[in-house]
Amino acid sequence: RLVYVLNGPNLNLLGKRQPHIYGSETLADVESGCRALAAELGLALRFLQSNHEGQVVDWIHEAREAAGGIAINPAAHTHTSVAILDALNAFDGPVIEVHISNVHKREPFRHHSYVSLRADGVIAGFGTQGYGLALRRLATLIDAKAE
Ligand code: DQA
Repeated sequence: RLVYVLNGPNLNLLGKRQPHIYGSETLADVESGCRALAAELGLALRFLQSNHEGQVVDWIHEAREAAGGIAINPAAHTHTSVAILDALNAFDGPVIEVHISNVHKREPFRHHSYVSLRADGVIAGFGTQGYGLALRRLATLIDAKAE
């Protein structure tokens, strides 16, 4: 029950970047919260961030062999990346898309997501709590698949 939590561009600046939109928690804070919850849920975790689209694609390929599920905040690539959509389409397990902000309340270009064409669920506007919700959902979906 290994899950990948993937984070796209600029999320390394979480806590410093537009805190009125994304809050004051850092990505390291989000990671430690995810690690505590994963332990509770009996999930093993790889928590990763890259500013490079191809790196995210490579991690999704790696997850094909290694992981039971993926939680992904593709950040700006959400709205542009056919490559990340295609990579996720080559992954068999559950995929949950996470956005810290409510993208539907923001600029129109954030209203469309390529990744949503693949995601089993989408969480937006729950702040960094959305990551925990995604892990809980992945645990449920991975168990349902194993039955
Ligand atoms: C985001 C929303 C995206 O539109 C934006 O480009 C991000 C972060 C979010 O978590 O709210 O970088 O995915």
